[in-house]
Amino acid sequence: MDKETITASKALRGSITVPGDKSISHRAVMFGAIASGQTTVHGFLDGEDCRQTIACFQKMGVAIHYDRDKHMVVIDGEGIDGLEEPSELLDVGNSGTTIRLMLGILVGRPYFSVVAGDESIEKRPMARITEPLRSMGAQIHGRRNGTYTPIAIPDGENTLTGIEYQLPVASAQVKSAILLAGLQAQGKTTVREKYRSRDHTERMLQAFGVDVDVSANEVSISGGQPLQAREVHVPGDISSAAFMLAAAAIVKDSCLRIDNVGVNPTRTGFIDALVAMGGEVAFENERVRGGEPVADIVIREKSLHATAISGSLIPRLIDEIPVLAVIATQAIGRTVIKDASELKFKETNRIDATASQLRQMGADVQATEDGFIIDGPTPLTGAEVSSFNDHRIGMAFTIAALIAEGETTIHGAKASAISFPEFYQSLRALSDS
Ligand code: S3P
Repeated sequence: MDKETITASKALRGSITVPGDKSISHRAVMFGAIASGQTTVHGFLDGEDCRQTIACFQKMGVAIHYDRDKHMVVIDGEGIDGLEEPSELLDVGNSGTTIRLMLGILVGRPYFSVVAGDESIEKRPMARITEPLRSMGAQIHGRRNGTYTPIAIPDGENTLTGIEYQLPVASAQVKSAILLAGLQAQGKTTVREKYRSRDHTERMLQAFGVDVDVSANEVSISGGQPLQAREVHVPGDISSAAFMLAAAAIVKDSCLRIDNVGVNPTRTGFIDALVAMGGEVAFENERVRGGEPVADIVIREKSLHATAISGSLIPRLIDEIPVLAVIATQAIGRTVIKDASELKFKETNRIDATASQLRQMGADVQATEDGFIIDGPTPLTGAEVSSFNDHRIGMAFTIAALIAEGETTIHGAKASAISFPEFYQSLRALSDS
């Protein structure tokens, strides 16, 4: 397996940008593919997951031109009825967002389709998607009664009816799949969630001309509405920025600026947690682009103290928890993270992966059923750690390695290409400057 060897870093200083937001990049391709007209996407994330989304929709006959050097995608959509029957398997690779959102589209199509992915996707639960879609009338076949991949949608009428659905756990992927099915259903579809998950689908559908009713924790959509193509500017991914911000928060004397980052309030829980720990973080040049809030983020290293992370904060920082756990090892006191059992169902079981690898590095961490208890500060020592082929685990431990004594080897470091292909280059550039 590929690996990266990392040693302690001196202060990180300078100014960078991070690659485009993964959630927004996926949606831009999907919505462009089901819209009428030409959609141009700027700042597209050149990560493996997002490329799988492009490939899947190309297999459904959509003309998609991708200029990798310019991070630009041009999609010539012919409306949702313009999608054609794929003659091959729709392979989503490692991407949970691709499979779950795409299923919301496929269940309303009159043709046969099969979706599957890699070994990680094989293990990820799909009942959370297939149950509500079935209750809308969708015909779904698949392994273990359609609760695991591969999943097949038979051909036929595939008539859907709108539902009212309360999400058992906050999940933007599930919410989005139901809304995409709702667009093809008779009547109105309403999704409620206890805690608000990321709302990029709602915002982007509105930008594509769809009427979406949003109130507090409830979203409704009426079926039969067409999407109109438009230009999309994808901001930098706050989930990728989080690794750099974490590095600057814990490596002595660091001061870092990250330009053009998406700061949608449903995604900024990591910043709130860092500020609650005593971190010095500021947003500059706040603006709104294409319906999404954007800012430049400036951070300075500061001594941190423990915090409690739970409840409505969890969906707002779900992908940042592994790196927050790394930060917590350096904070004074006991950090408790709970209500995060969803971490078990990510690209790997992120509770087990984070706790086991942090312990390898000498941290005082306990895994719980739904999170972690971390006592700090503890000095970290270099170790052999694994990414478990999960991009966010590999990157979180690279950040830990920056403050560890001795060498840390990250096995499976290439997983970072899923969401942050230039991660190691950016980090090296910052620590060399
Ligand atoms: C995503 C939603 C989240 C997140 C994932 C991307 C999305 O998953 O963890 O990385 O783009 O909708 P859940 O919806 O399962 O919480």
